[in-house]
Amino acid sequence: MAKHGDFLLSYTFPILILSLSLLCKANDEDRKVHIVYLGSLPNTVYSPSSHHLDMLQKVVQGSGSLKNYLIRSYKRSFNGFAAKLTDQEREKLAYMKEVVSIFQSTKFKLQTTRSWDFMGFNEKINRNVTTESDVIIGVIDSGIWPESESFQDKGFGPVPKKWKGACNGGKNFTCNNKLIGARYYSSIQSARDEVGHGSHTASVAAGNSVKDVSFYGLAQGTARGGVPSARIAAYQVCDLDSFCSGHDVLTAFDDAIADGVDIITISIGTDLPSDFYKDPIAIGSFHAMAKGILTSNSAGNEGPAGDTVSSAAPWTLTVAASRIDRRIIDKVVLGNGSIIVGTSVNTFTLNGTNFPLIYGQDASRHECSDSQAGYCDEDCLDSDAVKGKIVLCDAFDESDVVALKAGALGSILNNDGTGDFSNVLSLPAIALSHENYIAVKFYMNSTRDPRANILRSEVINDAAAPIVASFSSRGPNPITPDIIKPDLSAPGVDILAAYSPVASISVSPEDKRHVKYHILSGTSMSCPHAAAVAAYVKSFHPDWSPSAIKSSLMTTAWPMNNTNNAPAEFAYGSGHINPVKAVDPGLVYETSKEDFIKLLCMEYDEAKVRLISGDNSSCPTGSDKGSPKDLNYPSMAAANITPKKPFTINFHRTVKNVGLANSTYSASIVQNSKEVDIKVTPDILSFKSLNEEKSFDVTVVGKGLIGGSLIISSSLIWSDNNHSVRSPIVVRSEIA
Ligand SMILES: *[C@@H]1O[C@H](CO)[C@@H](O)[C@H](O)[C@H]1NC(C)=O
Ligand SMILES: *[C@@H]1O[C@H](CO)[C@@H](O)[C@H](O)[C@H]1NC(C)=O
Ligand SMILES: *[C@@H]1O[C@H](CO)[C@@H](O)[C@H](O)[C@H]1NC(C)=O
Ligand SMILES: *[C@@H]1O[C@H](CO)[C@@H](O)[C@H](O)[C@H]1NC(C)=O
Ligand SMILES: *[C@@H]1O[C@H](CO)[C@@H](O)[C@H](O)[C@H]1NC(C)=O
Repeated sequence: MAKHGDFLLSYTFPILILSLSLLCKANDEDRKVHIVYLGSLPNTVYSPSSHHLDMLQKVVQGSGSLKNYLIRSYKRSFNGFAAKLTDQEREKLAYMKEVVSIFQSTKFKLQTTRSWDFMGFNEKINRNVTTESDVIIGVIDSGIWPESESFQDKGFGPVPKKWKGACNGGKNFTCNNKLIGARYYSSIQSARDEVGHGSHTASVAAGNSVKDVSFYGLAQGTARGGVPSARIAAYQVCDLDSFCSGHDVLTAFDDAIADGVDIITISIGTDLPSDFYKDPIAIGSFHAMAKGILTSNSAGNEGPAGDTVSSAAPWTLTVAASRIDRRIIDKVVLGNGSIIVGTSVNTFTLNGTNFPLIYGQDASRHECSDSQAGYCDEDCLDSDAVKGKIVLCDAFDESDVVALKAGALGSILNNDGTGDFSNVLSLPAIALSHENYIAVKFYMNSTRDPRANILRSEVINDAAAPIVASFSSRGPNPITPDIIKPDLSAPGVDILAAYSPVASISVSPEDKRHVKYHILSGTSMSCPHAAAVAAYVKSFHPDWSPSAIKSSLMTTAWPMNNTNNAPAEFAYGSGHINPVKAVDPGLVYETSKEDFIKLLCMEYDEAKVRLISGDNSSCPTGSDKGSPKDLNYPSMAAANITPKKPFTINFHRTVKNVGLANSTYSASIVQNSKEVDIKVTPDILSFKSLNEEKSFDVTVVGKGLIGGSLIISSSLIWSDNNHSVRSPIVVRSEIA
């Protein structure tokens, strides 16, 4: 997605430089920061830092001190280090038996609050403030603005005893009993948020209830996080350009886990997913899971194309973004009285006056081509020509900034995207669909004195919500296709929440406006919504495992369907998060660390798996190896079925009773297709006690699927009349 919402960090691609350094003597400029992942910390007496230096000593050929090459040591929650290495050194390290993986540290991108009320999660909801205030949410992001009203500690008791973190936010950074910890890792040398993104995500998750806030009068109301009584610890990993280094992300996990956070929210990701052993978020969240901490991660903003979801690990909760029932729109009134609706956040008013229109091409500077000027490319608009006028630009991205710089009064932009979220524009401007934009051009041709007035944005009701946003990254899961990703959807469009008062509010440095609350869109915004619901569940069930909490969120989600939400489950996973239901799921699908280890065994040899697990895990051999679809996951998928061939797929699952001691659940299949026949055995599960477990099999039989990307969606619902425990079942043929 574009513009301000486009904060989701995407990996810039590691540039593969076929290195001459293999031939030449190692030169420090050839060194790239690599992450050397060593798995879990050994249980024996062990000094990670000296071990890391020893390992480097064995391979480094440079002249400088070893300490100059060692960038980070991971030693609090898992084992590994980041170091500047040449290709040759990297290869030598890769052969060492204690190394699980070694990969270049690439860049990640950073990807109110009506959203809670929209989900029926209003201020009157049943809360336990005592237990909620024991929950600590770790926010790995661009830092936080500690003075924001959303993070003040009025009414908060002392910091929870379990907290082992610190307030190392840098100069002039003070924590309190709400914002209990801060650390920074990036070049900014401070946890103070100068980007705005981190304050926004932290306040969506756990910001205080702050009355009467708005963005220039828009979306006026109370801004509040999902768990306003929970504590926040901020881990600053991003630079001012909104890029975050993989090795810093991993350090933040190393600290957050050891500091004692309960839930981690990380609205950071890459354009493309990597294998789990090369992905700092997958590695960090694996060790978080092993310590009982659930990580919520944004799905990415690379939709609507398929195979784009960048958060693929089955132990993280991957969150798609959807629209809520509130949209922000603006309107342009043409000189002949026609009103055309656009989707952008325009806080300016032209005071009811019509101003002349000019097409970018007709205001071209001589060094630019007509089409460049038509697109309002950088430095292509002639200031004298656009002064006092509204300029039409064939493009959308940053064209408003060009118009502003050239001194235009306003601009009308051609947004050939879907326009299902609204960006803040830096001057009186409006973003129109291509169709509407052409209509304005048509009007211009029809009159000798074309004029228009752009109206200030307004809030409208969107009855069709929730709908998955166009930008939200889609599955299938490029790493393990049989695990549906994203896992669920949560609000991520036009969200009002806290901001950094020193950050730019639009992409333009010319835009000098600053605010305390801002409207942003992205899976970055949906991710902390899900983290908050996880924290809410945790406040009622402090001893639940990360997978039990994740299962609760997924099996209670509101069903969504393929209409407006293609491609079905690969857009929204199990559906739209339902905070009220999530605390009482009835049954949970639990997945233990051992289950995930078994999954890793499908990829790695036993020696590496033991390094990761930190114990003597053994890998099953031969046919016992199993497949990812056997993981006790709350959703079920078989993504690569051979077309036109009969097939039978079996999913084995185990559920744990967390509802009423004596209860009987019966299975029903909601089947949207005649292509498959689904049976559940047994189809009745009777429980006599709490925490009792029962297993069952789901068998999907089909005569043959047509090739292509047709998705067959069904669901299994276990119901005891009180609870409805729903799992999507997805089959899809392989793409030829
Ligand atoms: C909150 O939870 C604690 C611990 O379970 C319990 O003692 C207390 O009664 C609960 N408070 C409310 C208001 O439910
Ligand atoms: C600390 O930072 C805040 C927020 O930028 C500012 O208002 C205050 O003056 C600063 N204090 C000092 C001592 O620099
Ligand atoms: C609209 O009126 C306000 C207040 O009088 C003024 O500050 C602003 O410049 C006016 N805008 C235009 C485009 O004339
Ligand atoms: C407006 O007029 C120009 C010049 O005649 C023409 O090239 C263009 O296609 C017209 N635009 C529309 C939308 O009719
Ligand atoms: C305004 O002009 C456009 C283009 O000629 C036309 O399509 C539209 O119907 C006109 N609106 C009114 C109210 O006349």
